[in-house]
Amino acid sequence: MLFQKYNCTACHQLYGLGGYLGPELTTTISQPGKGELFARAILKTGTQRMPDFKLRDEEIDAFIEFLKYVDATAITYKTKN
Ligand code: HEC
Repeated sequence: MLFQKYNCTACHQLYGLGGYLGPELTTTISQPGKGELFARAILKTGTQRMPDFKLRDEEIDAFIEFLKYVDATAITYKTKN
């Protein structure tokens, strides 16, 4: 629901669907060199190209749980790519 509320999909893909301005997020959590802490840092402050949504800590926690779930369930997606 938060993913829709903040329209993350305008810039990001999940399971190959969504916008192309930012990286595909399906496997951010399991990618070497990325992972949970990396994702937390970006959600907390934004970057030059990704807006700072001023997310509350609970919202960041929820996004991390969501991304972990997506990553863990993306079996077909990982096999295809
Ligand atoms: C205006 C476009 C835009 C929107 C909207 C946006 N992002 Fe991003 N996001 C980016 C860009 C661009 C990057 C790459 C970081 C960079 O290069 O500055 C990024 C990086 C990330 C990363 C790190 C991913 C990786 O694999 O490197 C995560 C996690 C992330 N965004 C989550 C979100 C979430 C959750 C939302 C919704 C709250 C969101 N983003 C909304 C543009 C956006």
